[in-house]
Amino acid sequence: MVKMPIVVLISGGGTNLQAIIDAAASGELPVTIEAVVSDKPNAYGLERAQKAGIKTLTLEYKGFESREAYDVALQQLIEAQSPQLVVLAGFMRILSAPFVEHFLGRMINIHPSLLPKHRGLNTHQRAIDAGDGEAGCTVHFVVPEIDAGPMIIQARVPIHDGDSSDELAARVLKQEHQIFTRAIDWFANSRLRLVDGDAQLDGKNIEI
Ligand code: GAR
Repeated sequence: MVKMPIVVLISGGGTNLQAIIDAAASGELPVTIEAVVSDKPNAYGLERAQKAGIKTLTLEYKGFESREAYDVALQQLIEAQSPQLVVLAGFMRILSAPFVEHFLGRMINIHPSLLPKHRGLNTHQRAIDAGDGEAGCTVHFVVPEIDAGPMIIQARVPIHDGDSSDELAARVLKQEHQIFTRAIDWFANSRLRLVDGDAQLDGKNIEI
Protein backbone atom coordinates (compact mmCIF):
# COMPACT_ATOMS: atom_id res chain seq x y z
CA MET A 1 0.00 0.00 0.00
CA VAL A 2 1.22 3.50 -0.83
CA LYS A 3 1.76 5.51 2.33
CA MET A 4 1.06 9.22 2.44
CA PRO A 5 3.88 11.39 3.82
CA ILE A 6 2.65 13.61 6.66
CA VAL A 7 4.16 16.07 9.11
CA VAL A 8 2.74 16.42 12.63
CA LEU A 9 3.01 19.69 14.57
CA ILE A 10 2.85 19.63 18.37
CA SER A 11 3.46 21.86 21.37
CA GLY A 12 2.90 19.50 24.28
CA GLY A 13 2.33 16.01 25.56
CA GLY A 14 1.55 14.46 22.24
CA THR A 15 -1.09 11.87 23.09
CA ASN A 16 -2.75 12.54 19.73
CA LEU A 17 0.65 12.16 18.10
CA GLN A 18 1.06 8.83 19.93
CA ALA A 19 -2.30 7.63 18.57
CA ILE A 20 -1.12 8.49 15.04
CA ILE A 21 2.27 6.81 15.59
CA ASP A 22 0.57 3.65 16.92
CA ALA A 23 -1.99 3.50 14.12
CA ALA A 24 0.73 4.00 11.50
CA ALA A 25 2.99 1.37 13.11
CA SER A 26 0.20 -1.22 13.20
CA GLY A 27 -0.49 -0.68 9.51
CA GLU A 28 -4.00 0.59 10.26
CA LEU A 29 -3.14 4.09 9.01
CA PRO A 30 -1.42 4.35 5.59
CA VAL A 31 0.89 7.25 6.44
CA THR A 32 4.58 7.85 7.00
CA ILE A 33 5.37 10.51 9.58
CA GLU A 34 8.24 12.36 7.87
CA ALA A 35 8.85 14.60 10.89
CA VAL A 36 7.35 15.87 14.11
CA VAL A 37 7.77 19.62 14.52
CA SER A 38 7.44 21.43 17.84
CA ASP A 39 7.60 25.10 18.79
CA LYS A 40 8.56 24.01 22.33
CA PRO A 41 11.90 22.24 22.84
CA ASN A 42 10.64 20.48 26.00
CA ALA A 43 7.41 19.11 24.50
CA TYR A 44 7.05 15.51 25.67
CA GLY A 45 5.69 14.59 22.25
CA LEU A 46 9.24 15.00 20.89
CA GLU A 47 10.34 12.09 23.10
CA ARG A 48 7.45 10.00 21.85
CA ALA A 49 8.59 10.65 18.26
CA GLN A 50 12.22 9.87 19.05
CA LYS A 51 11.23 6.60 20.72
CA ALA A 52 9.41 5.68 17.52
CA GLY A 53 12.46 6.58 15.41
CA ILE A 54 10.78 9.61 13.83
CA LYS A 55 12.73 12.74 12.93
CA THR A 56 12.08 15.65 15.28
CA LEU A 57 12.51 19.34 14.54
CA THR A 58 12.09 22.26 16.93
CA LEU A 59 11.42 25.81 15.81
CA GLU A 60 11.09 28.20 18.73
CA TYR A 61 9.47 31.59 18.32
CA LYS A 62 12.32 33.17 20.30
CA GLY A 63 14.51 35.22 17.95
CA PHE A 64 11.88 35.90 15.29
CA GLU A 65 10.72 39.50 14.99
CA SER A 66 7.14 38.74 13.96
CA ARG A 67 4.55 36.00 13.66
CA GLU A 68 4.79 36.28 9.87
CA ALA A 69 8.59 35.79 9.91
CA TYR A 70 8.24 32.75 12.14
CA ASP A 71 5.54 31.29 9.91
CA VAL A 72 7.70 31.71 6.79
CA ALA A 73 10.45 29.70 8.49
CA LEU A 74 7.93 27.13 9.71
CA GLN A 75 6.48 26.77 6.21
CA GLN A 76 9.96 26.18 4.77
CA LEU A 77 10.76 23.63 7.45
CA ILE A 78 7.55 21.74 6.77
CA GLU A 79 7.84 21.88 2.97
CA ALA A 80 11.39 20.53 3.19
CA GLN A 81 9.78 17.28 4.45
CA SER A 82 7.49 17.13 1.36
CA PRO A 83 4.30 16.22 3.24
CA GLN A 84 0.95 15.77 1.53
CA LEU A 85 -0.83 16.46 4.82
CA VAL A 86 0.05 18.70 7.76
CA VAL A 87 -1.51 17.58 11.04
CA LEU A 88 -1.89 20.03 13.93
CA ALA A 89 -1.95 17.79 17.00
CA GLY A 90 -2.03 20.21 19.90
CA PHE A 91 0.04 22.89 18.13
CA MET A 92 -0.78 25.91 20.24
CA ARG A 93 0.27 28.80 18.02
CA ILE A 94 -2.00 31.14 16.11
CA LEU A 95 -1.11 30.85 12.43
CA SER A 96 -0.87 33.77 10.02
CA ALA A 97 -3.16 33.90 7.00
CA PRO A 98 -0.44 33.41 4.33
CA PHE A 99 0.78 30.27 6.12
CA VAL A 100 -2.74 28.88 6.35
CA GLU A 101 -3.53 29.75 2.72
CA HIS A 102 -0.35 28.00 1.62
CA PHE A 103 -1.48 24.74 3.21
CA LEU A 104 -5.21 25.18 2.52
CA GLY A 105 -6.87 21.83 1.93
CA ARG A 106 -3.90 19.89 3.23
CA MET A 107 -3.77 20.96 6.88
CA ILE A 108 -6.13 19.65 9.58
CA ASN A 109 -6.49 20.45 13.27
CA ILE A 110 -8.12 18.84 16.28
CA HIS A 111 -9.93 21.09 18.71
CA PRO A 112 -11.23 19.97 22.12
CA SER A 113 -14.79 21.24 21.84
CA LEU A 114 -17.94 20.75 19.83
CA LEU A 115 -17.26 23.56 17.37
CA PRO A 116 -18.61 26.11 16.74
CA LYS A 117 -18.94 26.13 20.55
CA HIS A 118 -15.92 27.14 22.62
CA ARG A 119 -13.30 28.22 20.13
CA GLY A 120 -9.93 29.12 21.64
CA LEU A 121 -8.54 27.98 24.98
CA ASN A 122 -9.85 26.50 28.27
CA THR A 123 -12.60 24.70 26.37
CA HIS A 124 -13.40 22.13 29.05
CA GLN A 125 -13.83 24.60 31.90
CA ARG A 126 -15.89 26.83 29.65
CA ALA A 127 -18.18 23.92 28.70
CA ILE A 128 -18.65 23.09 32.42
CA ASP A 129 -19.23 26.75 33.35
CA ALA A 130 -21.77 27.13 30.55
CA GLY A 131 -23.78 24.23 32.00
CA ASP A 132 -23.41 22.22 28.79
CA GLY A 133 -24.73 18.68 29.02
CA GLU A 134 -22.11 17.36 26.66
CA ALA A 135 -18.67 18.18 25.38
CA GLY A 136 -16.48 16.72 22.69
CA CYS A 137 -13.93 17.34 19.99
CA THR A 138 -13.80 18.34 16.35
CA VAL A 139 -11.40 17.69 13.48
CA HIS A 140 -11.51 20.41 10.82
CA PHE A 141 -9.61 21.79 7.88
CA VAL A 142 -7.61 24.85 8.90
CA VAL A 143 -8.64 28.24 7.51
CA PRO A 144 -7.34 31.68 8.52
CA GLU A 145 -10.13 32.29 11.04
CA ILE A 146 -9.26 30.46 14.27
CA ASP A 147 -11.11 27.19 14.93
CA ALA A 148 -13.57 28.01 12.16
CA GLY A 149 -12.61 25.71 9.30
CA PRO A 150 -14.93 23.22 7.60
CA MET A 151 -15.65 20.40 10.02
CA ILE A 152 -14.70 16.82 9.19
CA ILE A 153 -15.77 14.75 12.20
CA GLN A 154 -16.90 15.25 15.79
CA ALA A 155 -17.23 13.00 18.83
CA ARG A 156 -19.41 13.71 21.86
CA VAL A 157 -19.04 12.78 25.51
CA PRO A 158 -21.35 13.49 28.46
CA ILE A 159 -20.48 16.06 31.10
CA HIS A 160 -21.21 14.56 34.51
CA ASP A 161 -22.24 16.53 37.60
CA GLY A 162 -19.16 17.56 39.52
CA ASP A 163 -16.74 16.91 36.63
CA SER A 164 -13.45 18.76 36.94
CA SER A 165 -12.01 20.17 33.76
CA ASP A 166 -9.21 17.55 33.98
CA GLU A 167 -11.72 14.71 34.21
CA LEU A 168 -13.61 16.06 31.25
CA ALA A 169 -10.41 16.65 29.27
CA ALA A 170 -9.37 13.03 29.79
CA ARG A 171 -12.77 11.78 28.58
CA VAL A 172 -12.59 14.01 25.50
CA LEU A 173 -8.96 13.11 24.76
CA LYS A 174 -9.84 9.42 24.36
CA GLN A 175 -12.31 10.41 21.67
CA GLU A 176 -9.79 12.75 20.03
CA HIS A 177 -7.48 9.81 19.41
CA GLN A 178 -10.29 7.93 17.66
CA ILE A 179 -11.59 10.65 15.38
CA PHE A 180 -8.22 12.15 14.49
CA THR A 181 -6.81 8.88 13.19
CA ARG A 182 -10.08 8.25 11.33
CA ALA A 183 -9.91 11.67 9.60
CA ILE A 184 -6.26 11.15 8.68
CA ASP A 185 -7.14 7.73 7.29
CA TRP A 186 -9.85 9.27 5.10
CA PHE A 187 -7.43 11.88 3.78
CA ALA A 188 -4.64 9.36 3.19
CA ASN A 189 -7.08 7.21 1.21
CA SER A 190 -8.10 10.25 -0.92
CA ARG A 191 -11.65 10.04 0.46
CA LEU A 192 -11.52 13.42 2.22
CA ARG A 193 -11.05 16.71 0.38
CA LEU A 194 -11.66 20.42 0.78
CA VAL A 195 -13.72 21.48 -2.26
CA ASP A 196 -14.78 25.12 -2.69
CA GLY A 197 -14.73 25.65 1.06
CA ASP A 198 -16.60 22.45 1.92
CA ALA A 199 -15.19 19.33 3.54
CA GLN A 200 -16.21 16.39 1.37
CA LEU A 201 -16.08 12.69 2.12
CA ASP A 202 -16.42 10.39 -0.89
CA GLY A 203 -17.55 13.37 -2.98
CA LYS A 204 -20.35 14.45 -0.63
CA ASN A 205 -20.37 17.47 1.66
CA ILE A 206 -19.91 16.51 5.30
CA GLU A 207 -22.89 17.76 7.32
CA ILE A 208 -22.28 18.24 11.04
C1 GAR B 1 -5.67 18.25 22.70
O1 GAR B 1 -6.73 18.22 23.60
C2 GAR B 1 -6.02 19.09 21.48
O2 GAR B 1 -7.37 18.96 21.12
C3 GAR B 1 -5.71 20.46 21.99
O3 GAR B 1 -4.52 20.32 22.71
C4 GAR B 1 -4.47 19.01 23.28
C5 GAR B 1 -3.16 18.37 22.92
O4 GAR B 1 -3.04 17.13 23.59
N1 GAR B 1 -5.57 21.40 20.92
C6 GAR B 1 -5.96 22.66 20.99
O5 GAR B 1 -6.45 23.15 21.99
C7 GAR B 1 -5.74 23.47 19.72
N2 GAR B 1 -6.31 24.76 19.85
P1 GAR B 1 -1.91 16.11 23.17
O6 GAR B 1 -0.60 16.91 23.10
O7 GAR B 1 -1.90 15.12 24.28
O8 GAR B 1 -2.27 15.52 21.84
